[in-house]
Amino acid sequence: MPINWFPGHMNSTRQAIKDRVKAGLDVVIELLDARLPGSSANPLLAALTTGRPSLKVLNKQDLADPPITGDWLDHYNAQPHTRAIGLDAGDKAPARALIKACRELAPLRGDMHKPLRVLICGIPNVGKSTLINTLVGKRATKTGDEPGITKIEQKIVLENGFYLFDTPGMLWPRIAIEQSGYHLAASGAIGRNAFDEDEVALELIATLKRRYPERLQERYGLAKLDERTPDDAVLEAIGLKRGAKVRGGGVQMHKAAEALLVDFRGGSLGRITLETPEEMTAWRQAAADAEAQKALALEAARLAEKEKRSGKRQSASGDA
Ligand code: G4P
Repeated sequence: MPINWFPGHMNSTRQAIKDRVKAGLDVVIELLDARLPGSSANPLLAALTTGRPSLKVLNKQDLADPPITGDWLDHYNAQPHTRAIGLDAGDKAPARALIKACRELAPLRGDMHKPLRVLICGIPNVGKSTLINTLVGKRATKTGDEPGITKIEQKIVLENGFYLFDTPGMLWPRIAIEQSGYHLAASGAIGRNAFDEDEVALELIATLKRRYPERLQERYGLAKLDERTPDDAVLEAIGLKRGAKVRGGGVQMHKAAEALLVDFRGGSLGRITLETPEEMTAWRQAAADAEAQKALALEAARLAEKEKRSGKRQSASGDA
């Protein structure tokens, strides 16, 4: 799916993360969307913070399918130097679990002399501001920038010896996995002008039909629905149910698409997760294979062009 966006703040946020790594960083918190825990993981962040202890927070778990959230937590908890927890960012007591998890990841830090320095990152709209507001309560103070650190970083003192460094929500320049593009767009992480909402809604319908057909049936009163029902017929039925009719009896498909996305984002379809760890691994592999094929094809074309040129040169010198 073509996504046309300039990921705002990307370069300055990337620089801020690099500066933070240089200045001292003990734990990286990556806030993920529990409905798309693989697609919302930023490959750029992974590359910039390689080797640092990592806490994956699967936020909006109240909107995600609990057993699949469990699979994702197991998946991340099995990775070295990594802990994973599920959260609803507005819930105060569980949010404090994040502080405990960070302390466990860096047990030698966390007092006044050796403060625990934690960076928090996440894609736009994943709930970072909500979580920070929940964590901050009355006890924390936001302070200005540290010398030498890019202005956009904000330091928050969560408790004595625990510093949280906040950076703006960040996406990455090219989403190599097609399904991830659809999932990120459906979740609201990507600005609406950067993608085709109708296309994203149809993809979402294809996933829901496969994984949660009963939710579509219940929400939109669809009597019959199975994998063979065309996606656009489902979208049309959604439009009829959600008041996206035009005079004369047709349906405004774009309005129907918007209504479906609003319902998904707000949780009106129930608790839904769009991807499993196994699917994500397969998509990642397929994307890497496709990249490798593309590189091979480019290399073959380059060699063919080179041979053609040297053939031309030889025949020209033979003619002379
Ligand atoms: P950001 O800083 O990462 O960009 O995200 P932000 O906190 O602004 O949250 C984006 C939206 O997600 C907000 O909804 C927020 O309420 C919602 N949200 C955050 N965490 C959770 C969560 O754990 N569960 C659920 N269900 N929602 C969450 P909004 O509609 O944009 O604003 P509003 O509802 O706060 O007015």
